Amino acid sequence: GRVLVLAGGLSYEREVSLRSGRRVCEELRTTGVEVEMRDADADLVPYVLADPPDAVFVTLHGVSGEDGAIREVLELLDVPYVGAGPDACRVAFDKPTAKAVVRGVGLSTPESITLPKETFHDLGAAAVLSRIVARLGLPLFVKPSRGGSALGASVVRTAEELPAAMVGCFAYGDTALIEQYVDGVEVAVSVIDLGDGPKALPPVEIVPDGGAYDYAARYTAGRTEFFAPARLSPEAAAACAEMAVTAHQALGLRDISRTDLIVDSAGQPRFLEVNVAPGMTETSLLPMAVEAAGHNLAGLCLGLLESAIR
Ligand code: DAL
Ligand code: MG
Repeated sequence: GRVLVLAGGLSYEREVSLRSGRRVCEELRTTGVEVEMRDADADLVPYVLADPPDAVFVTLHGVSGEDGAIREVLELLDVPYVGAGPDACRVAFDKPTAKAVVRGVGLSTPESITLPKETFHDLGAAAVLSRIVARLGLPLFVKPSRGGSALGASVVRTAEELPAAMVGCFAYGDTALIEQYVDGVEVAVSVIDLGDGPKALPPVEIVPDGGAYDYAARYTAGRTEFFAPARLSPEAAAACAEMAVTAHQALGLRDISRTDLIVDSAGQPRFLEVNVAPGMTETSLLPMAVEAAGHNLAGLCLGLLESAIR
C-alpha cells in the first residue's frame, strides 16, 4: 500500500503545512509504510486518478486545507482520508460559526462580535469601533474569523489599539472576530478517534516567553514554554478534556482535532476554537500531547490511516 501526505497549499500557513507534512512523512516512514508528500495544486486530481493511494493524510492548514474544499475533492476522487468531512470542516473552520455551535451544546465561549471588512468601511471605523468597545469592554482579542497560526491576531488593551488591530486582521481575511479577552491559562486539547470513540489526549499548557503566542512564538524553538500535561487541577484538566471531546462531537468532526481554550481564573475552560488539521511540526501541540500520553506519533498516524481505510 501507499499513503499520500498532502501539504503546502496556498494559504498563509503554507510554510507551517510543509513542516507538518514533512514530520508526518518522517514518522510514517519509520513504520515501513510507503509514503509520498505532495502539494495540493491543480495537478493533484490527475495525479491521484493515475495511481490512487490507499489513503491520504491531510496536513494542509488554513483556507482550502481546513475549510472543507480539499476534502470535497477527496470525496469526489473517492479516496479515504484522515479527518473530518467537508461539511463539518466548513462549520468548524469558521470561528464564529463554531462558537455558536459549541455554545448551543452548553460550552462556554467568550462574548464576541463578527465584523466584515465592508461593514467596517461603510459605517465608518470610529463609530463601529466605539460601539464594539462599549458592548464588549476591554481588553479584546481580534483575529480573522477564518485563519490560523495567530496570523492577523492581536490583543487590544486600549481603544486606541483597536484600529491597528483591525487593519492587521483584515490583511489576513475579510471578516474579523472580535472577542472579549479572557485572562487565564492557554491550553490545547487534542482529540483522537481510532474508531473506538473520540478521546482527549493530555492538555498542553502554553506559556509564551514574550507574552503573546504569536506566529514566531509558535514556530521558533525555545520561544514558548510548554507543559504537557498542563499544570491544572484534576477538575480543571477533566473539564478541558470534556470540552474538547464535546466540541469534536458537536461539530461532527472525525479522527483528529485540537481544541484551543483558556482556563479562566475560576478554573473554568472557555472555548476559543477548534483545528481540523492540527499542526504537526516540531513545535506543535498535538505531537507534544501524544508524547505526554506515552503514545508514539508514528503509530498514531498509521492508526488514523488504517481507520480511514476501514
Ligand atoms: N493552525 C496551526 C497549524 C495549528 O493550529 O496548529
Ligand atoms: Mg487555530
